[in-house]
Amino acid sequence: MRRAIFPGSFDPPTNGHLDIIKRSLPLFDEIIVAVLNNPDKNPLFSVEERCEMIREILPSTSECACELKVASFSGLTAEFARHSQATAIVRGIRAVSDYEYELRMALMNRKLEPEIETVFLMADEEFSYVSSTLMKQVFMLGGRVAGLIPELVEARMREKLGASK
Ligand code: PNS
Repeated sequence: MRRAIFPGSFDPPTNGHLDIIKRSLPLFDEIIVAVLNNPDKNPLFSVEERCEMIREILPSTSECACELKVASFSGLTAEFARHSQATAIVRGIRAVSDYEYELRMALMNRKLEPEIETVFLMADEEFSYVSSTLMKQVFMLGGRVAGLIPELVEARMREKLGASK
């Protein structure tokens, strides 16, 4: 059983995240999209809202053998991966600028859990500049984010930020 976790804040999930999930499907039997419970960071969406959004936008798995799950976690990613009996942590890399941070995380996670391998996947270049932070910022300032986040996420952002837009 090749089980991976795909951890992140997903505040909100973007088309870049979905691109990485789609690319992971042929590689694993099961992928758990692991949503970090980070109330101290004052996220726009609660962890429950993020999990629910992700469940609604996940790609179809009808044509592959991979099962997709969504779970929230607190604390260390490496510990959650071990607890989930995952053998891999999937992370997306958009540009060289991501590499240093991702390398440090991967090496730290390896130190914590030597049996668990980090697998880096390259997002489509179409999404190389897409981040949750940028999407929130642009959306809040009235810019167009169509095609960069799922329509459902855009609608939820409009509901959430409607009053201030
Ligand atoms: O995609 P993001 O939002 O930058 O995700 C970052 C995330 C959640 C993967 C990272 O912050 C994380 O792993 N947090 C949990 C705490 C932890 O394990 N920290 C040590 C990482 S080496």
